[in-house]
Amino acid sequence: MDKILGIDVGATGIKGNLVDLKKGITLLDRKKIKTPTHSTPESIAGIIKELIQHFDWKGKPIGIGFPAIVKNGKTLSASNIDDSWLHFEAEQYLKKSLKCPLVLVNDADAAGIAEVKFGMGKNVAGTSILLTLGTGIGSALFYNGVLVPNTEMGHLKWKDKVLEKYTSNKFREINRLSWKAWAKELNKAIDHIDFIFSPDMIILGGGISKHFVKYEQYLTKSNCPIVPAAMKNDAGIIGAAMAYHTYRNE
Ligand code: BGC
Repeated sequence: MDKILGIDVGATGIKGNLVDLKKGITLLDRKKIKTPTHSTPESIAGIIKELIQHFDWKGKPIGIGFPAIVKNGKTLSASNIDDSWLHFEAEQYLKKSLKCPLVLVNDADAAGIAEVKFGMGKNVAGTSILLTLGTGIGSALFYNGVLVPNTEMGHLKWKDKVLEKYTSNKFREINRLSWKAWAKELNKAIDHIDFIFSPDMIILGGGISKHFVKYEQYLTKSNCPIVPAAMKNDAGIIGAAMAYHTYRNE
């Protein structure tokens, strides 16, 4: 099994591609379909079916990164996705609906898995943290390459809300913030995370990682290197496929 279909379910788009597990690369053109407004299990399963069809992958294994806490296949939060996913046996449901073997993991954990094996976190000793800055903020925590799943740093209490409400890319876009203004808040968040975990590397992922040069100069607060994800926005797809290989339970 060298190839797996990786799917990254996001609040705005659901992306897929075939992944070469040995090389940690995507093999074809990425296919992205808009996430439906009512992002229920039924509608998301429908879109994943379209992706399976697109890649001619019927009945074959897939790895899915999902924007929620995923514990033993059950989704335990629903910040940027329909509430019907709360306390839902999501993996079981998707297996039945899609009629294929699959593994469901948190989307940021998926991106981290890829970056730690093939990207910026490769061979980093000690603690590495990947943060995805998109509609929400996701996090993945690793110690010597081993994942501590579902850390949810985007939900650290922050002012009157939680961290992602003030530092996500969505917050930057909605408020039309300059890179400098947005990065000032992100800098404070990184300072806090750096203090709590004393990481050896912080990797920034999600769509915004490709604009890293525009805000890197404002991130001055950590005691470790801060770097953009090497696989940029593909890390989630690649890591989801890798998660199938690691966590499948056949
Ligand atoms: C969710 C996380 C997810 C992140 C990025 C947050 O709102 O709680 O589980 O990883 O968004 O999608």
